[in-house]
Amino acid sequence: MADEWFETALRARRLARFDCASEDIFDGRPSPRTSGHEAKCAARSGIACMSADATGVRQPFLSDIVTVLDHCGHHIGLQTQYSIDAFSRSLFDIYEVDFPTRLGNAVPKRRGEFLAGRVLAGAALKSLGIIESLVGIGERGAPLWPKGSVGSISHSHGRCACLVARGENMLIGIDVEKVATGNSLEAIMKEALSARECNRLAHQTCLDQAILATTIFSAKETIFKALYPVVQDFFGFDAVSFNGIEDEDTLSFSTEQTLHPTIPIDTKMLIKFETDNEFTRTWTIIDRTM
Ligand SMILES: CC(C)(COP(=O)(O)OP(=O)(O)OC[C@H]1O[C@@H](n2cnc3c(N)ncnc32)[C@H](O)[C@@H]1OP(=O)(O)O)[C@@H](O)C(=O)NCCC(=O)NCCS
Repeated sequence: MADEWFETALRARRLARFDCASEDIFDGRPSPRTSGHEAKCAARSGIACMSADATGVRQPFLSDIVTVLDHCGHHIGLQTQYSIDAFSRSLFDIYEVDFPTRLGNAVPKRRGEFLAGRVLAGAALKSLGIIESLVGIGERGAPLWPKGSVGSISHSHGRCACLVARGENMLIGIDVEKVATGNSLEAIMKEALSARECNRLAHQTCLDQAILATTIFSAKETIFKALYPVVQDFFGFDAVSFNGIEDEDTLSFSTEQTLHPTIPIDTKMLIKFETDNEFTRTWTIIDRTM
């Protein structure tokens, strides 16, 4: 029964969110399929979905930018698709993104995904009314957000997502992954999941195993990105463990070790997720003042 409810709820969510594809919504107006609350927020921010024109540029490199989360000017999540085949170095100038020296020897794939992330970050900052749009590169590659904002960026197989919030007292993580199959799935099960987590995965019937395994992996990347500004050090996949599916769009995790005096062992973390069966996206926003 619980499984049936989960499946129905999940299907409804997919229809309401992920399947709200870019062709549905074009010229900055909320889609008829956008929910009432989201439509109001979107109308306020002016970007329920924005066409690539919203960046001032229309290039085959970047698809329309879709708003996937919108909390009335507090935080915004954007997603787009990019095509490495259509990438060229000159796009950095066209999108007015600084080309970082550290990408001097990088292959087009890396340059292209970086550019897509920075274009999304710029669009998200703009939609939150934050004038400074330069997102620098910090230690170990973590993005450096302009004063008064925090955020996170992810890219995978031509899909890019970015989550940005106004304020500085939050920890934010977002991650997109293509649903793993074959060797990649095996590698995730072996490297990113413990035997106990694999067992938990095998005993649930709510989600396809490959989707859930990829989502747990993605959630761990999201946790790493969110906690890194506090922990300031690398921590591995065994640092947190998957407890189970909390509800139709939430996974529950807890820390297996003390990561920082403010993040003791057994700290519970809830990670949101959404999947369209081809990709999965996870994210979290942790309020540091609580
Ligand atoms: C850094 C890491 C999380 C990036 O994730 P990924 O799935 O490989 O790649 P994504 O495209 O999703 O994310 C890359 C983006 O993450 C951001 N990022 C990189 N290092 C980061 C850090 N230390 N903290 C926060 N964000 C970081 C950057 O914005 C980067 O994109 P950019 O260089 O174009 O700006 C990953 O490579 C890693 O090192 N993971 C091992 C640690 C880990 O996950 N432990 C599990 C803890 S439970």
